[in-house]
Amino acid sequence: MSAGSPGLRIGQGWDVHRIVAGRRLILGGVTVPCEFGLEGHSDADVLAHAITDAILGAIAAGDIGMHFPDTDPKWKGAGSLQFLRHAVDLAGAAGYSIANVDATVILERPKLKDFRLPIRESLATTMGIRLDQVSVKFKTAERVGPVGEGFSAESQAVVLLANS
Ligand code: C5P
Ligand code: MG
Repeated sequence: MSAGSPGLRIGQGWDVHRIVAGRRLILGGVTVPCEFGLEGHSDADVLAHAITDAILGAIAAGDIGMHFPDTDPKWKGAGSLQFLRHAVDLAGAAGYSIANVDATVILERPKLKDFRLPIRESLATTMGIRLDQVSVKFKTAERVGPVGEGFSAESQAVVLLANS
């Protein structure tokens, strides 16, 4: 980014995907054993999408659909970690590195806490940062609304970038 740009930039991201049978449940690049998965043009990794949007937001570089349109056959079934890596590379080109990421996945079931470490490791490796810079939290929606009734999964993410 231009000289005199602020030393810190914050970004926020959110995503939702429908739950469907016959697809894999992929969160932060990790496949979680489950009888359902998430619908989407790509691999529908709702967590990776939210973090990608948070990074793009921090550098005011639009959103994930602008960079990877879901109408483009090139991205059909694509692994979403490449979207995340691209956002990190854009941030790097703008002069920023990731200070930390804090994300939440909201999914009624299955229980995800046993997958926290592999998911954090996968995200940290993809983003080229340390494990202690990546936090992933899990919440149910208390059986209320589309997430709570098992129709969808959501994710939210906040990222802080610092001048590198
Ligand atoms: O949503 P709730 O506050 O009841 O979640 C309690 C805890 O259950 C969370 O803090 C999280 O550790 C865990 N959890 C989980 N997998 C989910 C939802 C929640 O492991 N799908
Ligand atoms: Mg998405």
